[in-house]
This record gives sequence, C-alpha cells and structure tokens, in this order.
Amino acid sequence: MKKQALKTNLFKHYKHKAPLSPSFSKISLPKISSHHQSLKKQLTLSSQTLIDITLFFLTEINNGLHQKKSSLKMLKTHIKPSSQKKSGITLAIDWGGSNLRILKVNLDPKIINPEEIDISKKIQKKISPIEKKHPLLIFDHIAQHIRKLISQENNQTDISLGLTFSFHLNAKNASHGQIITLSKEFCETEIKGKDPHVLLQNALKKIHLSNIKIKALLNDTTGTLITKAYFNQNCDVSMILGSGTNICLLIDKMIYVTESGDFAIQQIIPRTEFDKTLDQNSENPGQQIAEKMISGAYLGELFRLIILKTLTNLPSSHLIHKKNSFHTPYLSEIEKDTSLGLKKTKQILTTLQIESTLATRIKAKKIIQLISNRSAKIAAACLAGSLKKIDPTLSQNHVVAIDGSIFEKYYKYSERMISSLNNIFKNNNKKINLVLTKNGSLLGAAIAALNQTD
Ligand code: BGC
Repeated sequence: MKKQALKTNLFKHYKHKAPLSPSFSKISLPKISSHHQSLKKQLTLSSQTLIDITLFFLTEINNGLHQKKSSLKMLKTHIKPSSQKKSGITLAIDWGGSNLRILKVNLDPKIINPEEIDISKKIQKKISPIEKKHPLLIFDHIAQHIRKLISQENNQTDISLGLTFSFHLNAKNASHGQIITLSKEFCETEIKGKDPHVLLQNALKKIHLSNIKIKALLNDTTGTLITKAYFNQNCDVSMILGSGTNICLLIDKMIYVTESGDFAIQQIIPRTEFDKTLDQNSENPGQQIAEKMISGAYLGELFRLIILKTLTNLPSSHLIHKKNSFHTPYLSEIEKDTSLGLKKTKQILTTLQIESTLATRIKAKKIIQLISNRSAKIAAACLAGSLKKIDPTLSQNHVVAIDGSIFEKYYKYSERMISSLNNIFKNNNKKINLVLTKNGSLLGAAIAALNQTD
C-alpha cells in the first residue's frame, strides 16, 4: 500500500498568502526603536536565569510527584512504552491545537522507524473557530470522518482506535480519563470534567459505529514518547512544541505528563506588559503562562501587541487591532529573511496593513528575535529540568522525542535550544539527543491502541 506523508502544522496555512490589495490605508511603524532597548532588557534571559528556571522546574516536578503544591501536575498515565512489535490495523485520532487528524494505520513489526509506518488512509482538517468555541462538536465530526474513512468496510468487525487528546487529562486507565481543563484557546465549558472516551463512543453510537473500540486515550506528549520508544529504548523524555507545549518523562517505567505549559515561569522571570495583556485577552487568563511565552498559538500575538503599542492614531478598523491577526509562521519568515532591503518582511508587514522603512523592518526583526529566543530558552530550560530529574549527573544517553511545528519549522529554533542546553549543562550535554519525531503524537495513538488489544 502506498505510504503517504502526513503534513500538518501551524505553518502550512500561511505560507503562500498573497499581500492584500494596495487599496487599504497603510500605517507606518514609527517609534519601534524607542521601545527596543527596554524590551531587549525584559525579554533577554541570562545564563543564570536559565539555570534558575531549570532548578525551579525540577523542584516543581518533585513537588508535583509528592502531591505538594506545584504548578506541574505530574499526571500519571496508564500507557507504557514498549518496543515489542505487534502487527495490525487500527484507527488513530489526533486532536491537537490547530488540526484534527484521523488515520487508518497498518503496523508492520518489521519497520524500523516511524517514517515507514503504513498510513493507508488519512483525513486532516483544520479546527474551525466554531469548533474551538464548542468542542463537543468535534466528537461528532470525528465520528463522521471515521465513517468516511472506513466506508468500504464491514461494520460488524471490531476496529481498535487510539485517541490522542492534547489537553490536561486525569487518566483513569489506558482508555478512560477526565478532562481537567482545555487550553490553546479552546472554550472548556461544555466538556470540562467529562471523559473523552465516553463522548467519542456516544458520537460513534449515534451513527451506528459501535464496532469501533476505543482502546487508548493519551496526551500528545505520551504519544510522541510511545512512538520514539517503540524504535529506540533510550527515549525517556518527549516534548511538544507546536500550538501548545508540554513535556512528559519516564520515571520508574511510568510516564508522567508534566503539563509544563502551566509551569509558573512568572515566579522566575517577570512578565512584560504584553505577556499580561495577551493573558488577559485569552480564553484562560492566569493559566498556561509558560505556554503563552513559548508556543505557536501565542508568539505571533505577542508581536502584534508589541507593535500595536508603538502606533498611535490608528483607525479602529485597522487590521492590527484584530486579535491573532499576526500568525507565528510570519515571525519565522521574517527572521529567515536575508533579502536585499528585507523585501519579504516588507511584504509580510504589508499584509498587516503596515508600511515600513528598512530601518523599522530591521527593528521589527530584532523584536521577533527577542520573542523567539526567549521561547527557545524557556523550552530548553524546562527540558533540562526534566532531564535533571531522571538523570541528575547526565550519566546516560537520552533521546528526547520532539513533535510540533515550532520545533520542526521555526527558523533555527532547534539550534537555539541546543545552544541553551549547552549553556545549562556547561557543554556536558553530548548525551542529550533532541530528535524530531514527526507525527509522533498520532502514531503513538495507533501503537498504544494496538498494545492494548489482546
Ligand atoms: C496542553 C497539553 C498538550 C500541549 C501540546 C497544551 O496546551 O495542555 O496537554 O500536550 O498543549 O499540544
């Protein structure tokens, strides 16, 4: 069967956007330079700060594990990594931050890396604003997509399914759990406290798909760790750096999901006025503070808020007033831009109805570098805290499986993380291998489902 590449990330949807027509009223970026110095001071993290974050993350892991007050939940999972190869066909669902993916996977015990996994059928949909507001709808949509995917098949035969549900979840067993809270700008009112297994099962029942058996319910970090560990037993930590962020780690053969996006980073680094505004305007004020400094759902918005502050006398209809009108992939494109006169940057700013001179474009680029450097440094320090928990002296090799479009696509993001880890571990980090595990969160759902099928 033909193997298909899975494409998904925040970046995909913005790549080829044409600039707006020249008829709009453009505004220019005037005072950006006067803000730059103070922003630089606030957004730059010293080597000592990275160490402070690392040690506080480690303390919070320990507090969370010992049921003491902690910003890290250390959620126990009931799914174990296994390198034991099984064969079979399963369905895998990944409900992430910006996309919904549904796959039919054929696992073959002979394959030796995730890219070889046979994906016989797939459906991929961008999650709509209405679905974000009413996430209950998503369960019905998943059921309908499954029906399309398996329409040719006999609906008497049982098909196992793994569901990756990328939010805070209290797991009860391998396939049931209770939603603690939603994030990434999803509204939680309708589904908080419910069991995603039951919600999906009911949606499947409604359309007579009772032969689909939900065997595994897991977080995307767990899925990523499961995928990498299936092929490489040195994998004991995984991280997501996409619309949201999170880390899970293996302690005494048990996977713990830290929910690192909720880490109380503000106790180490003060938030800027822009961080605070972003938080107040978000769906979950006061929560996921680290995620709001690190991840793809927020970096573009942070830049928009900074730019907005530099502009005065703006018509209220101007695009820059619109929440989330500046998408994170643009930041990466601007950082990458080395064209004469920063032409690409000019074009991107034009899509935001902003006129710029070369000097202001250079400043805009510098601000973006500050935002993304801070993100990569915090991400690396949280990872370092996790590694210190499982191996304080770094005596073993560690494969860290990472999935998500920020790590995969953001300009020089992985290099910046590696350099921060060098800083934290004083160049003694040769034993840490950050490995992009593309689609790990999704394939992990298939592997986990199959492991629960006996
Ligand atoms: C969620 C995590 C998830 C992460 C990455 C966060 O917003 O709380 O559960 O793992 O995003 O998708």
